[in-house]
Amino acid sequence: MKALILSGGAGTRLRPITHTSAKQLIPVANKPILFYGIEAIKEAGIRDVGIVVGDTYQEISKAVGEGKKWNIKITYIKQEAPLGLAHAVKISRNFLQDEPFVMYLGDNIIKQGIKSLVEEFQEKSSHSQILLAHVENPGQFGVAELKEDKVVRLVEKPKQPKTDLALVGVYMFDHHIFEAVENIKPSWRNELEITDAIQYLIDKNYLVHSHIINGWWKDTGKPEDLLEANRIMLSDLEVAVDGEIDGNSRISGKVRIEKGAQIVDSVIRGPVAIARGCKIVSSYIGPFTSIYYRTSIEESEVEHSIIMDECKISGLKARIEDSLIGKSVVISKSTLKPKAYRFMLGDSSQVGTI
Ligand code: TTP
Repeated sequence: MKALILSGGAGTRLRPITHTSAKQLIPVANKPILFYGIEAIKEAGIRDVGIVVGDTYQEISKAVGEGKKWNIKITYIKQEAPLGLAHAVKISRNFLQDEPFVMYLGDNIIKQGIKSLVEEFQEKSSHSQILLAHVENPGQFGVAELKEDKVVRLVEKPKQPKTDLALVGVYMFDHHIFEAVENIKPSWRNELEITDAIQYLIDKNYLVHSHIINGWWKDTGKPEDLLEANRIMLSDLEVAVDGEIDGNSRISGKVRIEKGAQIVDSVIRGPVAIARGCKIVSSYIGPFTSIYYRTSIEESEVEHSIIMDECKISGLKARIEDSLIGKSVVISKSTLKPKAYRFMLGDSSQVGTI
């Protein structure tokens, strides 16, 4: 069994972060999203992993390497443009050969992992197994109609969904999927859709089983999804305070402060993760916040937010909440006259003021 992680894509819903960085490397509870997928695959006993990459190939390969960190073997597969999930399968044929495989969307987190799902696929020896979850807004997903656990129809973002069963970003296939991806046509958005490829399998009477998951999962394509994922993963944090905490600081709740981080005259109320090299001075860091490498926060308050690496935040009068702040962002109180907001924001940035 092999695995194929999809880590290309355009990431339009996460601009401006994705103008410069891969969305799959955004840290959730201070761990890149992609690493959750890699760990789930490794835990399922799979060692041969292909990663489909697009424009962010350099950044992804730098972060993930050849897989030594996890004792797996990683092969990168270049997709010339984000032409769809089924297109990603099509260009990966050389890597996959005729082996069955798990396809894992690199921006998804499945809390329970995928070990038992992979085992179930192997036991049932179906041609494909898809994961489904009950959702409140099925119209925003690919939706499945079932006869017992056999899938009879898949519809992409239906206007009037017949069920509330949405496709989760983990799929299992045997080599028949190549016949499907060779025979389907691009959709209205000019992508080769995986739902069309699976529908092809169903129409040709290949066996497509489903498994409904009850555990927590998230497709982290939008900022609010990332904050929810951060909240869930921080709730499970292993407490470890290895940084330097001065006598004037108070730490409570589940908190992970890495070695080399400094907390001075501050209140940290978990769940909170603070990475190596951060400096928090005269500040309040509240629940569900993660702060990535070498960020400094001074005389400010932050809660329920993801702050990425090398940011500098200082002297803010109001608390930062519900925010996703990219790398090397500077937010500070200005003493310049006239008194005014002074911004330098990338395309598609969003700012909420009081
Ligand atoms: P999506 O979130 O469906 O697409 P996207 O990344 O282009 O984002 P947006 O809709 O905001 O523009 O993709 C799911 C995962 O699959 C994600 O990790 C990117 C990856 N992907 C590819 O690798 N190749 C592709 O052709 C597409 C469409 C997605």
